Amino acid sequence: MCTVQVDGIALKSCLMLAPQLEGACVRTVESLAVDNKLNGLQASFHRHHALQCGFCTPGFLMLATSIVERGEMLSRDEIREEISGVLCRCTGYENIISAIHEYLQETVAANPQSVAKELV
Ligand code: FES
Repeated sequence: MCTVQVDGIALKSCLMLAPQLEGACVRTVESLAVDNKLNGLQASFHRHHALQCGFCTPGFLMLATSIVERGEMLSRDEIREEISGVLCRCTGYENIISAIHEYLQETVAANPQSVAKELV
């Protein structure tokens, strides 16, 4: 849904008041692309057609960014559990799970150090 990163942690912005963010580093989906090019995680979402509405897709990308920045390889079931807090009723989530899982396989499983470099 409305997930953003606050000081590196994925949080729902709709549940926060602006004064709570004073002095915090707030990161939104606009921070992900570099030089107008999708980063690897965004490209994986694109490849898998891992789309929701215009509110939810950015939120999923920011939640997925927090997941992959931890540098842990997760199973599909673990990814499903990780995203369980941001589901709506509009569609299914298999493509999102596939996008995150593929990105983790390409980066974390191959070279854990590469995730932090690309996403920061
Ligand atoms: Fe965004 Fe359901 S509310 S896809």
